[in-house]
Amino acid sequence: MSDFVKIIGVNEEAYDTKTFEFQWDEKAIPGQFIMVWVPGMEEIPMSLSKTGRIKSITVKAIGASTRKLHELTIGDSLRIRGPYGKGFDLTKGKKILIIGGGVGTASVMPAIKESGADAIIGARTNKDVIMDDLGHKYAKNLWISTDDGSMGFHGNAVQLMREKVAENNYEIIIACGPEIMLYYIYQACVELNLDCQLSLERHMKCGAGICGCCVIDDQRVCKDGPVFTKEQISKMKDFGVQKRDECGRILKFR
Ligand SMILES: Cc1cc2nc3c(=O)[nH]c(=O)nc-3n(C[C@H](O)[C@H](O)[C@H](O)COP(=O)(O)OP(=O)(O)OC[C@H]3O[C@@H](n4cnc5c(N)ncnc54)[C@H](O)[C@@H]3O)c2cc1C
Ligand code: FES
Repeated sequence: MSDFVKIIGVNEEAYDTKTFEFQWDEKAIPGQFIMVWVPGMEEIPMSLSKTGRIKSITVKAIGASTRKLHELTIGDSLRIRGPYGKGFDLTKGKKILIIGGGVGTASVMPAIKESGADAIIGARTNKDVIMDDLGHKYAKNLWISTDDGSMGFHGNAVQLMREKVAENNYEIIIACGPEIMLYYIYQACVELNLDCQLSLERHMKCGAGICGCCVIDDQRVCKDGPVFTKEQISKMKDFGVQKRDECGRILKFR
C-alpha cells in the first residue's frame, strides 16, 4: 500500500535524530517498518516508532537520504509504502525484557508501550539517548546504559541486561539495535537459556520480498523478518559476521 502522508509533528530526540509524525490509518504492529521516499533521496526502510492511527518514524541522520528527511517540517509530505515485515510477538505471556540500542530504541518503543514490560535503552553517551521520556512513561521499569557512563549504568546494554536477568526471572528478550549488540544478546540468551526475538537490518530495495537484496542465508529480512526468533537466528551463518552493501559487496561486522 503506497500513500502520501502529511507530517503533523516533528520532535528532536537528539542532536542527530528526529521523529516525524503523520496520520495513516493502515494497521501496523510493533516491529514493522515502512519504505519512505521524498524527491531527492533514495527510498529507504524506517521502523514505525508509533503504530496507532498517528504513526511516526524516528530518523538518525547518517547519510544523504536520512539528512534529506531531516530537512522536512510540519506540512511537508512523505511517500510511504507498507507496513512491511513480521513484528514482535508479544502474545506469548512470558516475562519480557525489551532492549533498544541507539536508534533501534525507536523500533522497540511500540512494543514497550503495548506490553508495559521492563526495558533497557542503551547508547554511547547521554547525548545519544533517545525516547527515554516515553520509555519511562510506558515501561514498568526503564534502565539506561551509556558506554561512557554519562547517564545511567556505565557499560553497554548487554552488560546491563546480564545484571537485570540475574535479578529478575525474565523468560524472553526482545531487542533492536546494532547487529554487534544483537549478536552478544543472542550469545547471552543461549548461555542463560532465555528465549529471544531480535529485529535485524539488511540493505533493502523492494521491502516486500521480491528483489532478494536483503537476504541473510535463506531468509529475506524484509518479508521473513525483520523480527526473527531464536531458533531462526541459530541457523543464520551471516548473523553478527557479515552483510552486503547496496552493490552486493560483503561488509564484515567483526
Ligand atoms: C528494517 C529496517 C528498519 C530501519 N529503521 C530505522 C529507523 O527506525 N531509524 C533509522 O534512523 N534508521 C533505520 N534503518 C536504517 C536506515 O534505513 C538507514 O540508516 C538509511 O537507509 C541510511 O540511508 P542514508 O542515505 O542516509 O545513508 P547512506 O550513507 O546511504 O548509508 C549509511 C548506511 O545505512 C544503511 N543503508 C543505506 N541504505 C539502506 C537501505 N536501503 N536499506 C537498509 N540499510 C540501508 C547501510 O548500512 C549504510 O552503510 C532501518 C533499516 C532497516 C533495514
Ligand atoms: S528488500 Fe527486496 S526482498 Fe527484501
